[in-house]
Amino acid sequence: MKKRDFIGANAYITGGSSGIGFAVACAMVELGSNVLLVARDEQKLARAAALLEGRKNDNGQRIDWLSLDIGDWQQLNSLLPEKVKSFGPPDILVNSAGMACTHYFEKIDYQDFAGVINTNLMGTWGVTRALVKYLKERRGYIVNVSSSLGFIGSFGYTAYAPSKFGIVGFSEALRPEVKPFGVRVSVLCPADTDTPQLVEDRRNMLPEVRAINGTVGLMQPEEVAKDLIKGMMKERFMIIPGFMNKITYLVKRLAPWLPNLVMDGIVKNVQQKGS
Ligand SMILES: NC(=O)c1ccc[n+]([C@@H]2O[C@H](COP(=O)([O-])OP(=O)(O)OC[C@H]3O[C@@H](n4cnc5c(N)ncnc54)[C@H](OP(=O)(O)O)[C@@H]3O)[C@@H](O)[C@H]2O)c1
Repeated sequence: MKKRDFIGANAYITGGSSGIGFAVACAMVELGSNVLLVARDEQKLARAAALLEGRKNDNGQRIDWLSLDIGDWQQLNSLLPEKVKSFGPPDILVNSAGMACTHYFEKIDYQDFAGVINTNLMGTWGVTRALVKYLKERRGYIVNVSSSLGFIGSFGYTAYAPSKFGIVGFSEALRPEVKPFGVRVSVLCPADTDTPQLVEDRRNMLPEVRAINGTVGLMQPEEVAKDLIKGMMKERFMIIPGFMNKITYLVKRLAPWLPNLVMDGIVKNVQQKGS
């Protein structure tokens, strides 16, 4: 995708009212795209859309929003095609909406687990399923937001990690099916990023998780968005923002035993101190 292809493109961004999704929306508006934000909270959506209005570089650019729950297939299947009629079909879909969940395995009950899978994995599937026919007609671009926890299963994330591994698998399987129609697919795998979701996640963070996460560092959502745009321009399948995050990805691929060894060492250390 060339820089000029962003001009006048219709970008649908789930989770676009906050954090990484909002930073991606800002970057795409600045590149000249029309942006549709999708999330649940109407006030947050309206506020984010008003901020984006101030970033337009052309009066013809359109900013709009749609309130829905990505975990509700009935809503997706009726509201998204309706919105396509008024806003125009998507050229770009960024599936950034998602929720966090960190706890010890036995503290996560069935409802918690199902909720995370339903929002993160089934929501990504559902939005894509509802919009793929338009993306095929427009030779569009799909970006699914996974996580570094989509390639490395870490302590405390027995619900979140499977939802994010699932997004990588879904994207990998979708890519060759839509390629003949000119549709490109990327997966974005950020590590810890300074957003409201991380603040929430950190409120009850397990000591083991805090110690493990401290080894990778913290990125700003604007940096993640910048890396995403660069990755889209190179049409990279896996987009891994941040130096330490890239190193972790490479080590996990080349020597999968090594991250386990490091993680086990950190967990042992924290638990010995705590007991
Ligand atoms: N921050 C990190 O450290 C980090 C690291 C790796 C990956 N990620 C992933 O990056 C993505 C964005 O996270 P973020 O950190 O930017 O979080 P955030 O600031 O909390 O934003 C989450 C966005 O998703 C929307 N959302 C959540 N549940 C939804 C639902 N059921 N239906 C529709 N919209 C929903 C939220 O709006 P409403 O609440 O109004 O619906 C909000 O716009 C997520 O997929 C997350 O898992 C984040």
